[in-house]
Amino acid sequence: MKIKNICCIGAGYVGGPTMAVIAQKCPEINVTVVDINADRIAAWNDEDVENIPIYEPGLSEVVKEARGRNLFFSTNVDSAIDKADMIFISVNTPTKTYGIGKGMAADLKFIELCARQIARVSKNDKIVVEKSTLPVRTAEALKNILDNTGNGVNYQILSNPEFLAEGTAVDDLMNPDRVLIGGDIENPEGKEAVEALVDIYAHWIPRERLLTTNVWSSELSKLTANAFLAQRVSSINAMSELCEKSGADVKEVSKAIGMDSRIGPKFLQASVGFGGSCFQKDILNLVYISKSLGLNEVADYWEQVIIMNDYQKKRFAYKIVQTLFNTVSGKKIAVLGWAFKKDTNDTRESAAIYVADYLLNEQAEIVVYDPKVKTEQIYADLDYLNTRSSEENRAQVSVVDTPYEATKEAHAIAVLTEWDEFKELDWEKIYNEMLKPAFLFDGRRLLERATKEKMGFEFYAIGS
Ligand code: NAD
Ligand code: UGA
Repeated sequence: MKIKNICCIGAGYVGGPTMAVIAQKCPEINVTVVDINADRIAAWNDEDVENIPIYEPGLSEVVKEARGRNLFFSTNVDSAIDKADMIFISVNTPTKTYGIGKGMAADLKFIELCARQIARVSKNDKIVVEKSTLPVRTAEALKNILDNTGNGVNYQILSNPEFLAEGTAVDDLMNPDRVLIGGDIENPEGKEAVEALVDIYAHWIPRERLLTTNVWSSELSKLTANAFLAQRVSSINAMSELCEKSGADVKEVSKAIGMDSRIGPKFLQASVGFGGSCFQKDILNLVYISKSLGLNEVADYWEQVIIMNDYQKKRFAYKIVQTLFNTVSGKKIAVLGWAFKKDTNDTRESAAIYVADYLLNEQAEIVVYDPKVKTEQIYADLDYLNTRSSEENRAQVSVVDTPYEATKEAHAIAVLTEWDEFKELDWEKIYNEMLKPAFLFDGRRLLERATKEKMGFEFYAIGS
């Protein structure tokens, strides 16, 4: 079975880059990415490719090559579904904010809307691919909706979770550790559908890295992978506090344990706490699923990863307050970095939002500089917490265009994203223009202590 037309519903951080790479690598397949967000689609279609809505190193070059050739962005969802042999569902699956499972379960309303739309529009057989991260056994619900509300056409449901990380999305897509495809491999039609997707990835990925499993294993592996990754960050962050109290240095501890090949060196970077749209959401979802199945010990085990992460953000903010003589009221605190990690403009669940919120509760005056995040996004993130009115957020927080404006006459600096450019700043100038004592809090272990202390900074870094 040869796929000629792909439709991807959802032009976000996953749908956009993933489809751009598929289109680039498979010039004979037409790929149409659709979204109900007309502004987002307009940005993907912007004549100046630098204005695409997602910042990812290398992405604009890929889009430039494929867009208009075999990569299209559109708001016409029905038409793209109708034409497609294969439909990826890549819509958001946020934590529910209402009703049963509020604050824990994944909200599947966007997924269900897609399924109903596919069922309504489709006139020929389709392969439907779950690209979004979903609770285990969602494919069953999808199949049920498609079979019962459709026009009698056949659907094969595949699970093909995405493992890309933001900031390295293009590299991750070009050269993934593995691609996971779950399908109904016991049946010939299911196997054929799996093979059709394998053939697409085989355009650029060695076959031995294309892993096929049953659907439930694939769905659950995605949640498991994120839980394991987040757990490593919480584990090293737990050790970071122990290091601070004991004279050990978490960087040295990370190195020492990471050289054990059974542990490995990756994801052992202590920080102010993990952020991003998925770790917290996916673990909460795992906790919810476990609880729903009566597995309370399993649920408690994974919930601790989130509890530790929340604690780490709070602990960092309180350290600032405590160090600044137990009050930051009316004091200017420069926040360097708002994105949840470097090389992305994504701020979802960024630790910076929570650290700023705690400091604002203490009546600090916050000045933010981030090289990629827009001013409106920073206010929207704070407003979303609902801790204070939008007017109050605007009165207490300002956003500036340079790190030097942010740090001028500040009482303290908090480095909250590990942007490379922060290493290269003129720290001498920054020190000279700050109020004294000049406090510098490194939430990312980005800066060198010795040189900063030599300049005169009062320096605090996570985990030492
Ligand atoms: P996103 O919010 O950036 O994008 C989702 C898009 O879907 C939005 O633009 C939204 O308008 C659109 N959408 C929602 N309902 C729609 C509908 N009915 N019809 C058309 N468009 C619709 O989300 P994302 O970060 O791309 O994540 C998507 C999924 O991928 C989530 O399940 C997430 O857990 C998973 N995931 C994300 C990442 C990541 O790095 N962001 C990595 C791996 C997996
Ligand atoms: C993560 C996973 O790495 C991806 O495999 C997965 O596809 C994705 O979630 C998803 O499902 O959305 P992402 O959140 O984009 O990717 O970025 P990560 O590099 O995993 O970083 C997540 C957070 O952990 C960031 O805030 C980062 O700063 C923090 N982190 C990461 C640390 O604090 N220490 C580390 O050692 C690693």
